Amino acid sequence: MGNDVVKLAPSILDADFARLGEQVAEVERAGADRIHVDVMDGHFVPNISMGAPIVQSLRRITRLALVTHMMISDPDFFLEEFVEAGSDSFLVHWEGNNNLHRTVHRIKALGKRAGVVINPATPAAVLEEILPDVDQVLVMTVDPGFGHQAFLHTTLPKIRCVRQMIERIKPGCDLAVDGGINEATAPLAVAAGANVLVAGSVIFGSSEGVGAAMEQLRTAIIDGTR
Ligand code: DX5
Ligand code: ZN
Repeated sequence: MGNDVVKLAPSILDADFARLGEQVAEVERAGADRIHVDVMDGHFVPNISMGAPIVQSLRRITRLALVTHMMISDPDFFLEEFVEAGSDSFLVHWEGNNNLHRTVHRIKALGKRAGVVINPATPAAVLEEILPDVDQVLVMTVDPGFGHQAFLHTTLPKIRCVRQMIERIKPGCDLAVDGGINEATAPLAVAAGANVLVAGSVIFGSSEGVGAAMEQLRTAIIDGTR
């Protein structure tokens, strides 16, 4: 898979929140494809992060799609609030959701795009029945909850498996990975079949600036998958 079709989705979890608008504008100028917003409630994952007011503020300053990664116990309860704030699409976890099909269809009824997320310990097979209904699959390459974690290489065979499943059942569906993406791991994920890379600390934590960090990631993908 070539670099031209790989999309970068900066995760603002590691942004400087005192300069959030500026930083999002910078990644937009640097060619980000979408903005990844990590929502955590301290229950579904052992961390809390941000809610709909952040989406509402960002909606005013960027044209990029605001993709909302729902790491919360009851995503259904908050969908309307995030839609009103300006979320364009939702990533909802398979884990802990006994009514995933209903959640996905609620999102679609709200006129938004739906993606399904699986954690590192969850097998690809659970995606088979929901895949026709979603636009995106996100394979977590770390356990969700925190930035700055190391990429789990054990997820690579699963990424390959999900890619095959997508080609068979839902060609055109995005395959994203999230967690531990850097110059070393991005080419591995792309070679395994990912076409969307969510990246937080490698972009917003870079001392050379977010634009340079994104360029380095793109170069690493080209070099690593040539
Ligand atoms: C982790 C979040 C990620 C996080 C990735 O639970 O879902 O989106 O921001 O951060 P890095 O890129 O630092 O692993
Ligand atoms: Zn995320």
